[in-house]
Amino acid sequence: MILGPGAVLLRGFALHDAESLLDAVARIARAAPFRFMQTPGGFRMSASMTNAGAAGWVSDRRGYRYDARDPDSGKPWPKLPAAFTTLAGAAATAARFEGFVPDACLINRYEPGARLSLHQDKNERDFSQPIVSLSLGLPAVFLFGGLTRTDTPRRVRLEHGDVAVWGGPSRLAFHGIAPLKDGEHPATGRCRINVTLRRAL
Ligand code: SIN
Ligand code: FE2
Repeated sequence: MILGPGAVLLRGFALHDAESLLDAVARIARAAPFRFMQTPGGFRMSASMTNAGAAGWVSDRRGYRYDARDPDSGKPWPKLPAAFTTLAGAAATAARFEGFVPDACLINRYEPGARLSLHQDKNERDFSQPIVSLSLGLPAVFLFGGLTRTDTPRRVRLEHGDVAVWGGPSRLAFHGIAPLKDGEHPATGRCRINVTLRRAL
């Protein structure tokens, strides 16, 4: 499904690997637990987060940035699992972005009511590299807008196993997640997991 120029939703692309991908998320979360980060404005984000890979996305009173270390433990983030790198490369290729190799993996955990307000992913160095975003567990409504905050976003349902890829002319598209509806998913229970793979460095 086309979301925009250079932006596609690959429905069910990761469905067959979902169980092993969730195992990898659980391993990462044992080494670097999910935590609620603070926005630069001092608010607690409603989705909890962790990271894997050479660069982890962090937010605190000082701003947003990539950091090689988990600020909670002082240790490097867990290694990016090969299964994520492989999936990201395959999804990017399916979306016509060849040779994508992520070095950053942000994992978002949404419980009922959690949301992510409209934003651009723009802390990365090279905007020629796409964003690959995997959905697991409870469904969510993805808000996918244009290049300005005031463009009315499309509302697209993201389900377990779906992978969204955006790059090229849509690389800096505003996007977000509407408040998560309550529910129970056989794979994750009462939450949604999003794994966002990026080339940050
Ligand atoms: C993000 O923009 O970092 C996450 C999007 C999602 O949860 O699908
Ligand atoms: Fe994002």
